[in-house]
Amino acid sequence: MNKVLLLFLCLMRGLIGVNTFCQCIGYEPLIINASDSQLSASSKHSNKHAAPYSKWTELGWAPNQRVGSWIEVDLLENKLIGGIVTWGRGSNDTVPQWVKSFNVKYRVDGSNDWNNYTDTGGSLLTFIGNEERYQPVVNDFEVSIVARYIRLYPLSWNNGPTMRWEVLGCAQYAQSHVNRYLHQEAETCAITSENCMLATNNRILLNYKGLITQSNTTNLVLNGESLSCNNNFMTIGVEIGMLGCAVEYNMCEMNDANGDGKCHVLCELKDWQVGQPFNLLLLIKGGSDMELCAVEIDLRPWKPGRSVIRDWDYFLQNI
Ligand SMILES: *[C@@H]1O[C@H](CO)[C@@H](O)[C@H](O)[C@H]1NC(C)=O
Ligand SMILES: *[C@@H]1O[C@H](CO)[C@@H](O)[C@H](O)[C@H]1NC(C)=O
Ligand SMILES: *[C@@H]1O[C@H](CO)[C@@H](O)[C@H](O)[C@H]1NC(C)=O
Ligand SMILES: *[C@@H]1O[C@H](CO)[C@@H](O)[C@H](O)[C@H]1NC(C)=O
Repeated sequence: MNKVLLLFLCLMRGLIGVNTFCQCIGYEPLIINASDSQLSASSKHSNKHAAPYSKWTELGWAPNQRVGSWIEVDLLENKLIGGIVTWGRGSNDTVPQWVKSFNVKYRVDGSNDWNNYTDTGGSLLTFIGNEERYQPVVNDFEVSIVARYIRLYPLSWNNGPTMRWEVLGCAQYAQSHVNRYLHQEAETCAITSENCMLATNNRILLNYKGLITQSNTTNLVLNGESLSCNNNFMTIGVEIGMLGCAVEYNMCEMNDANGDGKCHVLCELKDWQVGQPFNLLLLIKGGSDMELCAVEIDLRPWKPGRSVIRDWDYFLQNI
């Protein structure tokens, strides 16, 4: 999974503000232990194919009408969802059946509006399903969603849309936090460009603690007004250790490559920092009109290529 965290700065009265945010570092299956009443469907082919039989330990759900059918799980509260797993029919008692492609819709607690899980163009995304009966296929969501209700709509199938499924919900968060030291009082706390941090006669020092990524590089994009993307005005570094009483930093590379006024920053991590909490320091020394409005950090909590859960016991032990 490739998550992009958006850390918005907001100004607060006082010298030090602490902003906590969450990064998902582990997922769990949410359907396997759901009660029967949490699972519903547009129809069932027979009682032995009702919605509760869509768990991966069961025979599989099958609708009695093939086109336009759906199966739904109610997670009882909003959850952060990072992916969906599907299997074909859970028994070889008949011709092999599985769902080859599907759409996903979702709804948050308290809303009647179904959202489409879309591709970047805004069209309903077609997820790739199974190619055979027993092998699970994991679809990692490019963009995690927050939802209480998830619906899966089979689009195409082999012999019939009999299927089992699982939804992966975030089970473990890395709690990181940002310390801000502002040498200037400011009043508002809002995410608008009118409320950016002004660097004139000021210093902005942001200290991100406990970030985690599975990549050996981390990209930051600094967004603001009149930013000078060079080390005369800004310093960004990854903490790599202590030397006596001083903290040592590995400095990041900075440029405004895209000419879009945003500073693009590349930080390299030491091998031993990959997958471990690390600290990042951002210091802006000021320039006449410089304002910092938002910092985007691109963190990759999963190693690439982790797409199919083959061994559930191993998976459960490792979430
Ligand atoms: C499901 O419930 C069983 C029995 O309570 C428990 O051992 C197992 O860890 C649960 N699985 C998950 C993924 O929560
Ligand atoms: C069907 O599956 C069962 C259990 O998975 C297995 O024991 C049996 O050999 C299978 N039958 C055929 C015809 O593949
Ligand atoms: C979801 O997609 C369907 C079919 O493409 C479309 O008719 C509907 O308006 C979309 N819903 C939303 C909320 O965008
Ligand atoms: C980062 O990881 C890639 C492969 O994952 C490797 O090729 C590269 O040498 C690493 N870079 C550093 C600086 O360790």
